[in-house]
Amino acid sequence: MKQKVAIVGATGLVGRRMAELLIDHPWFELGMIVGSSESADATYRHVWTKKETALQEHYGLHFWKPRPFPEALAGWRVSAFEELLASDIQMVFSSVPERAGSVEEQLLETGRTLFSNSPYGRFEQANPLVVPEANRAAMHNHRFIKNPNCVTSGLVILLSAIDQQYGVREACVTTYQSVSGRGDAKYAPELVDHNIYPLHHSAERTEEYIRREVKKILGQHLLLSVSCNRVSVQEGHYVDVRINTERSIGSRDTLIHVLSTFSPLHDIETPTRPLYPIVVIDEVGRPRPNQDAWHANGMAIAVGNISTHDELYDLRLSYVVNNVVRGAAGGALLNAEICMMPQYRESTWSREEGVKVSAD
Ligand SMILES: NC(=O)c1ccc[n+]([C@@H]2O[C@H](COP(=O)([O-])OP(=O)(O)OC[C@H]3O[C@@H](n4cnc5c(N)ncnc54)[C@H](OP(=O)(O)O)[C@@H]3O)[C@@H](O)[C@H]2O)c1
Repeated sequence: MKQKVAIVGATGLVGRRMAELLIDHPWFELGMIVGSSESADATYRHVWTKKETALQEHYGLHFWKPRPFPEALAGWRVSAFEELLASDIQMVFSSVPERAGSVEEQLLETGRTLFSNSPYGRFEQANPLVVPEANRAAMHNHRFIKNPNCVTSGLVILLSAIDQQYGVREACVTTYQSVSGRGDAKYAPELVDHNIYPLHHSAERTEEYIRREVKKILGQHLLLSVSCNRVSVQEGHYVDVRINTERSIGSRDTLIHVLSTFSPLHDIETPTRPLYPIVVIDEVGRPRPNQDAWHANGMAIAVGNISTHDELYDLRLSYVVNNVVRGAAGGALLNAEICMMPQYRESTWSREEGVKVSAD
């Protein structure tokens, strides 16, 4: 028996990818596609095509390649939120904006289990913020599980691997983030088309989110300097990282071995889990978003530009993370899959009530 799930925010850029990832998923069955009142009752095909076309018209044919509507989702209609509340669906993936946090609250109040990409409530102590390669144990006994910002999703995997072996003391992070990170909301083309748009002090609060999220996941002791920028790329964030460590890095070959054999989820097997979440691409000119955002179906980060000889830092490297998959839809899906594993179900959910959470 597959577990029935719904997506709220299913008509958005992340929600659309979530729906794709759920097609033929071996453990989950898509039970409802929910949008805001703007798209309720329309066909999913109509909303999908309208949004992808709008992005292409806005950014131009040379830049934005629309994602085709998957025929496997033909016939789906967008439901209103009230229909979900009235349904028996207990497990929900949420991809709503932060300002729509009340949607998540209502789902929690009605006893549902949520896996959420939204920044809403991410920093509240009670809500675990989870990238399972770094802190999967944090999910135990919870039913409101958040995954972090797209940059953080990759960064904590990288920092965890390095921390385990060498101890990370401080990190300096510069991002080159793709425009799909903004979802269907659009930038004025003059900011991002053939350009670089610094996000410092912008309304997006990306630098603040990354700093706070990494500390929430890996610990407050970590010193971080974060600088974020949007660049002229459709999908896949490129991130440059400089690190000082507690212990000597030693040989470059050993470091590459440490990164490429990092396998913190080796003891669990789920459909989306990458056995090795770091793929090292030790080539000049790599990693690049267009070539390297799709390792392990977008669930692994690609690391390159590794240098252990720098006047200021013990280590310099870069990574590419697929912001829509690993950084959002796939991250939430992986968390949900792990919660379906017998060892998590026993501690988190009562068998009789399916996915409903047992008493605190
Ligand atoms: N894009 C990324 O790479 C990325 C990465 C990590 C995390 N995230 C986070 O994931 C979430 C979704 O991002 P996105 O890029 O997919 O944004 P988006 O394209 O703007 O999609 C937003 C979705 O939320 C729905 N929505 C908006 N207001 C709502 C309301 N009041 N009630 C119910 N539904 C509402 C929209 O429905 P309608 O279409 O009907 O308006 C749409 O389905 C955000 O919280 C974002 O911060 C995004």
